[in-house]
Amino acid sequence: MKKIRLFEPYSLKGVDFKNRVAMAPMCQYSAENDGILQDWHRVHYTSRAIGQVGMIITEATAVEPRGRISGHDLGIWDDAMIAPFSDLVRQVQSHGCKIGIQISHAGRKAALPGETIVAPSSIPFSDQFPVPVELIESEIRIIVSAFGNGVRRAVEAGVDFIEIHGAHGYLINQFLSPLTNKRVDAYGEDRSLFLKQVLEEVHKHIPKEMPVFLRVSAEDYVEGGIHPEEICRLLESVKKLIDLVHVSSGGVVENAVIKFFPGYQVAFAETIKKQLQLPVMAVGMLESPELAEKTLNNEEADLIALGRELLRNPYWPLQAAKTLGEDIKWPEAYQRAKT
Ligand SMILES: Cc1cc2nc3c(=O)[nH]c(=O)nc-3n(C[C@H](O)[C@H](O)[C@H](O)COP(=O)(O)O)c2cc1C
Repeated sequence: MKKIRLFEPYSLKGVDFKNRVAMAPMCQYSAENDGILQDWHRVHYTSRAIGQVGMIITEATAVEPRGRISGHDLGIWDDAMIAPFSDLVRQVQSHGCKIGIQISHAGRKAALPGETIVAPSSIPFSDQFPVPVELIESEIRIIVSAFGNGVRRAVEAGVDFIEIHGAHGYLINQFLSPLTNKRVDAYGEDRSLFLKQVLEEVHKHIPKEMPVFLRVSAEDYVEGGIHPEEICRLLESVKKLIDLVHVSSGGVVENAVIKFFPGYQVAFAETIKKQLQLPVMAVGMLESPELAEKTLNNEEADLIALGRELLRNPYWPLQAAKTLGEDIKWPEAYQRAKT
């Protein structure tokens, strides 16, 4: 019988994933203003673990309060946040699913009325957002160390891997893109310097065998912005600090025109995989099981992430396996519904 790649195990460093289907990070806007994880998050993520995704990347989780996208985001800036995460981690892992936290800072895209927001350069995202304060070097060092402490807490909560959010126009992406980084100091001369410092800090807090994913936007969809070749160049200097690139696009500028179609970001993933010789995760309208399988079979990506489809259907892996003719293990309690 033909092996279905989607449901083949995959290993990265010390972590064995039971299949190649990931749940993409998706903000739930369901925390109180304190950033603490709620029952909603435990039910939401655990349902997808029961549905048999191989790994879950939790939503963007902020390293400091002003780094949230909204006042209802999750945070990881205080040790009191570890215990609620650790409950979630234990529940997800009990279903044979691996879990990582997406560690994030929104920079100029924080929609937090009354909060001073920061960025590499004082250029607002749009006229709906305040003008951000340009970060000085000493503040950059504080944020770098906040990333490290966020990761330390995630590790204490028991996660299997870490994803650093370098995509969608948030702080790391703001340093990377020439559209948002107009600095004339070292952070402007080398737009990957901030990312490099964050990743070096991350490595101080993780066990040696823990994989680090980096999510990037490979295309800004505007002239003068980042394109796949440019992101490859920027990642060259941090290549040794990451184990997988999770390839998304957009989010840096407000009015970029994106052509959406099934697999619209796969070609970006393939470029990064080939040029950097790193494993990649493809994402973006990949809910057709045949298309997801083809993407893996063609070696365009190593893993597939699904976002919105898993909001519509937490049991996508069970159904995709059936569609593709693969017999995967169902949760014991659901066995009677399998046939
Ligand atoms: C409700 C929602 C929240 C999202 N939040 C995040 C997030 O926290 N971090 C992130 O990197 N991407 C986020 N995304 C983007 C998704 O991870 C994913 O890349 C995007 O939805 C495209 O994949 P899809 O076509 O499978 O949905 C979000 C998307 C949705 C729909």
